[in-house]
Amino acid sequence: MQIAPSILSADFGHLARAVDAVEKAGADRIHIDVMDGLFVPNLSFGPQIVSVLRQETTLPLEVHLMVQHPEEWVKTFADAGADMLLVHLEATPHIHRALSLIKQTGMEPGVVINPGTSVDAIDMVLPIVKQVLVMTVDPGFGGQEFIPEMLEKTDELATIHDRDESLDFKIEIDGGVNPGTIKLAAKHGVDIAVAGSAVYDGGNPADNLHHLQKLAAE
Ligand code: DX5
Ligand code: ZN
Repeated sequence: MQIAPSILSADFGHLARAVDAVEKAGADRIHIDVMDGLFVPNLSFGPQIVSVLRQETTLPLEVHLMVQHPEEWVKTFADAGADMLLVHLEATPHIHRALSLIKQTGMEPGVVINPGTSVDAIDMVLPIVKQVLVMTVDPGFGGQEFIPEMLEKTDELATIHDRDESLDFKIEIDGGVNPGTIKLAAKHGVDIAVAGSAVYDGGNPADNLHHLQKLAAE
């Protein structure tokens, strides 16, 4: 299982250092949470942070857009240097258009579903995505509690994926991943786990990441 540290819980005063630490420790990608205060009840950062981090790291940058009408921001994030753009089904009536636009720019398209959304709702877009992100908390904040029932959805996605050779997406979870929950996730078809507070909130980020990697591999 890959681990994607989320910089939402990093020290914003030393963001470059925070990314450097996990890159050296073997992080697979960096997860960047963009929030607009409307789709989720919080604000975070925008494309400037992606541009800055693009200069700092060679790791893939995946941008998790928690904004209304994500299709309006696709070009901006492509220009900023994002490698993957993840958009919520719940944030637009035009999810297919949003994902197609992402693909046209050369970024990898990913679709995200909130805890209240079922896998059925994204059935029609699975052929065009490279990633499906199953939220294991309601988005908006780091440090929330993992909702274990969401792993029924990762199991379902793994079954769908294995049944149909034409599908080519990774299964990712985001929210509440920590040493206590990552082992369970590893048994339920998860390819990539996002971890924010478990990496950056207390202790040494490199050690925290190694600990999670070890548990995920057990
Ligand atoms: C939450 C964000 C997450 C957040 C996860 O809305 O999408 O990526 O950083 O934080 P933890 O790992 O602390 O739950
Ligand atoms: Zn996220």
